[in-house]
Amino acid sequence: MISARKLIKASYYAGKDFFRPPQVRDVRSPAVAAVMVPIRSLGPSETGRIVQHLLNLAPADRYLRFGYAANDEQIERYVSGLNFERDEIFGIYNRRLELIAVAHLAFAVEADFTSCAEFGVSVLVHARGRGYGMRLFDRAVMHARNEGVHMMFIHALSENTNMLNIARGAGAIVERDGPESDAYLRLPPADLDSRMTEMVEEGVAQTDYRLKVQAHQFWSFLRMMQDVRRGMRDARDRTSS
Ligand SMILES: CC(C)(COP(=O)(O)OP(=O)(O)OC[C@H]1O[C@@H](n2cnc3c(N)ncnc32)[C@H](O)[C@@H]1OP(=O)(O)O)[C@@H](O)C(=O)NCCC(=O)NCCS
Repeated sequence: MISARKLIKASYYAGKDFFRPPQVRDVRSPAVAAVMVPIRSLGPSETGRIVQHLLNLAPADRYLRFGYAANDEQIERYVSGLNFERDEIFGIYNRRLELIAVAHLAFAVEADFTSCAEFGVSVLVHARGRGYGMRLFDRAVMHARNEGVHMMFIHALSENTNMLNIARGAGAIVERDGPESDAYLRLPPADLDSRMTEMVEEGVAQTDYRLKVQAHQFWSFLRMMQDVRRGMRDARDRTSS
């Protein structure tokens, strides 16, 4: 479980970076970047960014994510069919407001399986191996518990060792059926800790996102001012020559 101390430390490190120019390489402490990252619940206004995230996946990753080689049109259809009221879509943004990781927690609609949910996730290639996949999984587990889900389900190709490692690491039972595998994770009931942690995490993530938006606007404004100044200087140089 994540302690308040870790959350505060994470938001401190995240905040420190906001007003650094986007072109400078990220040199944040890898230990902090790897474990703590603000994960936000996404809404319908972000469907464009979700589409863009999924379109950025290479064909092999689309195959791993959806279980078939999804083309652009199928991805667009999948996103337009997302039910933000019923399901939960989580995302991780970088400082350029690029959605680098997205997870979909889909709640079962069948009457007999209302206490079940399915998890799907994707992380852009350049952001992999930092624990984002695992953190999204933990976030989804916490939310699922708080929503009364008893069983979380992950369908993955048997070759998808990264995804299966995440599920196994959380204690899921993995059943292999040839090229495909199903992982089942039994969830403990919600408690005060899971409810409070989710509330605090969501609050930190919302603040993080607002700061990123402000920083993005600040750098856009600065660039625009530099362009205007450059234009004026060029015009002055032309008239004086
Ligand atoms: C599966 C996926 C989401 C993992 O994302 P990630 O952020 O890289 O995952 P994590 O950093 O949390 O690592 C999870 C596991 O993947 C493995 N892994 C991730 N990156 C790795 C790398 N560069 N080298 C070696 N192993 C790596 C590790 O084994 C790790 O398990 P560990 O904790 O036992 O070491 C990502 O690879 C992905 O988007 N794949 C394409 C879509 C997909 O397969 N979705 C899952 C189907 S629902």
